[in-house]
Amino acid sequence: MSSAPRHNRKPVTLTKLHEMRALGEPIVMITAYDHPSAVVVEEAGVDVVLVGDSAANTVLGYDSTVPVTVDELLMLAAAVRRGLETPLLVGDLPFGSYEASDAQAIATAHRFVKEAGCDAVKLEGGGAMADRARAIVRAGVPVMGHVGLTPQTATALGGYRAQGRTAERARQVLDDALALQAAGCFSIVFEAIPAGVTDVIMQHMEIPVIGIGAGPSTDGQVLVLHDLLGIHDGFQPKFVKRYADVKALMKAGVKAYTEDVRRRAFPLAEHTYGIAPEELERLKEQLPPHRTTV
Ligand code: KIV
Repeated sequence: MSSAPRHNRKPVTLTKLHEMRALGEPIVMITAYDHPSAVVVEEAGVDVVLVGDSAANTVLGYDSTVPVTVDELLMLAAAVRRGLETPLLVGDLPFGSYEASDAQAIATAHRFVKEAGCDAVKLEGGGAMADRARAIVRAGVPVMGHVGLTPQTATALGGYRAQGRTAERARQVLDDALALQAAGCFSIVFEAIPAGVTDVIMQHMEIPVIGIGAGPSTDGQVLVLHDLLGIHDGFQPKFVKRYADVKALMKAGVKAYTEDVRRRAFPLAEHTYGIAPEELERLKEQLPPHRTTV
């Protein structure tokens, strides 16, 4: 038996995203990696939630997205699924889980749908990856593409830097986006692309484009939850706007707890369970007399 819905909003579908694009209604996408943050983004009313491979950095402590595994992301995605009712849930295919063949890409995409309850998957890159996207779409799983700065292959792109800053490189981004669109992707993420280049590419796009560091002309925006909330104070890309300083709040809370325990100011009576005095008496009567140590 399913529990009662927490609100009256209808689940966000692919059709809804296309309608929003047509109506010029900005699409809000955000990452989440666990159940409590899924509940927060659900209640805040976002449209799309991505369990990004950025989990590698934000919650798993790796120094890039390369090492994170399918199993690690599936566990996080399943926890997010349990906290969501409304937003479309997209699972990120991690590096090494889809590039080798169409069969590998389809098998991984199916795991995200069957084991974690994702509605769609995301993969990085154009070129041959457009073929992988096509294969996954044909196997029944909606695909979101990702062009521009693609962190899984950042080394090959010359590091974590904006892409498409020459006419030739911008043309490459456009070609990648068009290839993914032609492959049947329902949406594409544009990451770290000059706003002027985005403006030009947008004239050729017929599917919802979600930007991160790609300027204001995309159909929606995405940010990494931990960046916008300030849950960590590590490297912050130019395109991040910080809306809160949650790490400082968390640290203050844990410090206050530490100090309270050390000065015996916690727990107080209100944090403590009681027992009827007669029960306590009966317990004491059952015990042998106190032994004193010599
Ligand atoms: O992994 C991720 O968080 C992403 C977003 C930056 C789009 O791919």
